[in-house]
Amino acid sequence: MKTMMTALACAGAAMLLAACDGSVTRTISASAETGETPMVLAASDIEAGRYLVLVGGCNDCHTPQYAATNGAQPPEAEWLKGSTEGHTGPWGTTYGKNLRLTTQRLSEDQWVELLATGSSLPPMPWPSARAMSEADKRAIYRYIRQLPGDAGEQAPEPLPPGATPPAPAA
Ligand code: HEC
Repeated sequence: MKTMMTALACAGAAMLLAACDGSVTRTISASAETGETPMVLAASDIEAGRYLVLVGGCNDCHTPQYAATNGAQPPEAEWLKGSTEGHTGPWGTTYGKNLRLTTQRLSEDQWVELLATGSSLPPMPWPSARAMSEADKRAIYRYIRQLPGDAGEQAPEPLPPGATPPAPAA
């Protein structure tokens, strides 16, 4: 019992130290605003958002010609402008939407609401998006809003099941 008490006391002290140490908290922090424990420790929300977009694979479907470059990373000025590479299945054919335009259309709170409740056609990984902390959803929004380059065009509208999609633009 004594050992357990000591362990608990140390864990408490470690948490206090972590909270006091600026190096392990975000300096500009959506976590501080939402009161959540940060899930991603980064220097800023922009850095956290960039990291989340990268490891979340958002570029795989939401960045033009990502597949055509054989998996090579397109320049950041092209990220998340939507894709003409269709995803065909029983649901028809869908295209990763232009998330720069989505974040321009929505307030930050509306974006958080969309990621928290969103459901649309596959293969958008909605369960993964819904599972993100609110602070992380906000960090992604802030990151996308400051991306370099123009916003680009909207991705094609989804096609119904059975419709033949046009070949993706070269
Ligand atoms: C495997 C492909 C894929 C990946 C990976 C993916 N998406 Fe999507 N996403 C889609 C498709 C396709 C749609 C459009 C679905 C439709 O037309 O109904 C979509 C739609 C969305 C929408 C709705 C946009 C709007 O204007 O309605 C948001 C927001 C979104 N994705 C965010 C993300 C984020 C953030 C990530 C990374 C964490 C991500 N997606 C990763 C394929 C993907």
